[in-house]
Amino acid sequence: VVGPEEQLVQLLNQELGDGLYSVDRVLRDTADKRARVRHVAHGDVVVAGSVSRLMERSDLDYYARFGPGVAPLFRRPPIGSLEAVAVAPKARRAGIGSRLVEDALTWFRREDCRVAVAVSWISGRTGASARLFAGAGFSPGPRVEGFYLEESLRGGWSCPVCAGPCHCPAQFFHRDL
Ligand SMILES: CC(C)(COP(=O)(O)OP(=O)(O)OC[C@H]1O[C@@H](n2cnc3c(N)ncnc32)[C@H](O)[C@@H]1OP(=O)(O)O)[C@@H](O)C(=O)NCCC(=O)NCCS
Repeated sequence: VVGPEEQLVQLLNQELGDGLYSVDRVLRDTADKRARVRHVAHGDVVVAGSVSRLMERSDLDYYARFGPGVAPLFRRPPIGSLEAVAVAPKARRAGIGSRLVEDALTWFRREDCRVAVAVSWISGRTGASARLFAGAGFSPGPRVEGFYLEESLRGGWSCPVCAGPCHCPAQFFHRDL
């Protein structure tokens, strides 16, 4: 039987990008007080998972491409970041993704964040991620074409939609807590 961490890594990599996560990274994040790793299992099978993180002012660099509106959100750290949310295709549309987002928002509040941010991957398949964040009270911000291209080339991970380096756009979302 493959353990929950391995299954979570498989799910994240299958849904978000092959090579994006490793078991080592997930174990490190699980032990890190500034990260929160969740998985949802049906019996022994992991069907969903999320990774969230507390950000500092210096993390603004990553979001700077979304324009000048982002900087004010980073004035008062920590800032909550929804780094990854994935639900296996068979388990979708049952509220699991929304529950994982709510869980992260509760954790951010407990950690004294005033703002949560998310980068929505616009894969062109369903637009589900933008709807997920909008449904959780996030406001949409600017969209950037090819947002992940450089990091997918540098990190050597491949997009499940592009089947290679990721050319997909991304949209910035944020909400007050
Ligand atoms: C995005 C994702 C996590 C949503 O998970 P989920 O468990 O299906 O989400 P929920 O059931 O909580 O649905 C949340 C809302 O999103 C919208 N939504 C989700 N899937 C949708 C679809 N296929 N078509 C239209 N709307 C959809 C709905 O508005 C839904 O609310 P509603 O059911 O009350 O109408 C899931 O589709 C997924 O893993 N996609 C691939 C990976 C990905 O894109 N992750 C996000 C990266 S930023």
